[in-house]
Amino acid sequence: MPGTCVIGLQWGDEAKGKLVDLLADRKNVEIVVRYQGGANAGHTVVIGDDTYKLHHIPSGILTDGVMNVIAPGVVMHPGTILEEIDGLVQRGIDVPGQLLISDRVHLVFPWHIAEDRAVNAGEVIGESIGTTLRGIGPCYRDKYGRMTAIRMGDLYSGNLAERIEQVVQWKRKTLAGFSEFVEESELDAEAIFAEYQDYAKRLEPMVGDTTEYLLNATDSGRNLLFEGAQGSLLDIDHGTFPFVTSSNSSGVGISGGSGVPAKWIGRVYGVAKAYTTRVGGGPFPTELHDEVGKTIRNLGNEYGTTTGRPRRCGWFDGVAVRYTVRLGGIHGLAVMMMDVISQLPEIKICVAYEIDGERTGCFPSQVDDLRRVQPIYETLPGWEQDVSGVRTMEELPDGARRFLDRVSEIVGCPVAIVSVGPDRAQTIIADDLLR
Ligand code: IMP
Repeated sequence: MPGTCVIGLQWGDEAKGKLVDLLADRKNVEIVVRYQGGANAGHTVVIGDDTYKLHHIPSGILTDGVMNVIAPGVVMHPGTILEEIDGLVQRGIDVPGQLLISDRVHLVFPWHIAEDRAVNAGEVIGESIGTTLRGIGPCYRDKYGRMTAIRMGDLYSGNLAERIEQVVQWKRKTLAGFSEFVEESELDAEAIFAEYQDYAKRLEPMVGDTTEYLLNATDSGRNLLFEGAQGSLLDIDHGTFPFVTSSNSSGVGISGGSGVPAKWIGRVYGVAKAYTTRVGGGPFPTELHDEVGKTIRNLGNEYGTTTGRPRRCGWFDGVAVRYTVRLGGIHGLAVMMMDVISQLPEIKICVAYEIDGERTGCFPSQVDDLRRVQPIYETLPGWEQDVSGVRTMEELPDGARRFLDRVSEIVGCPVAIVSVGPDRAQTIIADDLLR
């Protein structure tokens, strides 16, 4: 049985967690797989009166009996995942029985967080990426550099103390010129060993070979769901480089990060807000610097789950989403936060870009071109009605349906799901395959 996938189509924070939780509940999903990123991600899921904030753990953890896998493409901070686990266990969730972590995941160490602070200060390229400061980029850099990387399996190898000491010696040399960004404790090999040994003990019952587990699962036809973190425009290879994250956050990352061959990757849902947000640096063609942008931020509570930073807000960018729909091979679009734009008197959709006087529908590969974009908008009248109680497409106000039809035409993909509020129940399912 092919897997279902959920991919963010913008710069992250599209509310993918809600969709994963919903699909896990509806589609008889047996295993949810997280395959890239780390504690930079923040998924908020609301079920009834309960709000859950997750960073590493797939949102399938909230559905009884669903197994959740953290695959090799993820980078993990063991202290952070243990906090998440403790919070969920306190609320009655059987995390140890429902979670398997790959022994191949790369670990984030305190020195990665120090390096993130140093690089993010912006001195290297004169502009800050505005990272989440979770050590993600430096950890992936060590993974690809290989010699100074430590993986989950190394915690159980018997020579962890020696390994940490070697890496710390190296980091002392490479960070020597950045002492203002480094705290002594971040290079204290003995203390770090003690801390990580403790993490290792607590995580051990949940650690294993997820690649073998997933290959067995596909052999026996189990129903998989792949949960992307961040958004396609933050993809290291296909996003707005260098203002991206360090993993393949578009659909192209699924096989590489999970170890599941492409032939098992079936239906892909792309998640986009009815507007656009971005946190951190980098160009954002449809960004609003006016009162409308502030209104969207307030109505949508657009503040980061992981960092609490206010998100930059702007109109729906049809050029960008058309690009990421094609890149991700998206079958169905999930349009989120329809309740937010339903309160606006007028709504704009970016239908094309103008760069140096030339109109184009192509998303530029170079960030300097993206900086020069003048968005070309189509303006639709708002419908200014509360849609949070609507559960079918037919019940939506005409204006809202017109907006969704236009979005679908522009990006070249049918609308499968519309979210009209944070709760699992506040969802319109337009895709017959999901009913
Ligand atoms: P990093 O992933 O912490 O290295 O940050 C790189 C860029 O990706 C920054 O612009 C972050 O704000 C952005 N980013 C990373 N994770 C997320 C996320 O989950 N949602 C939105 N933006 C993110």
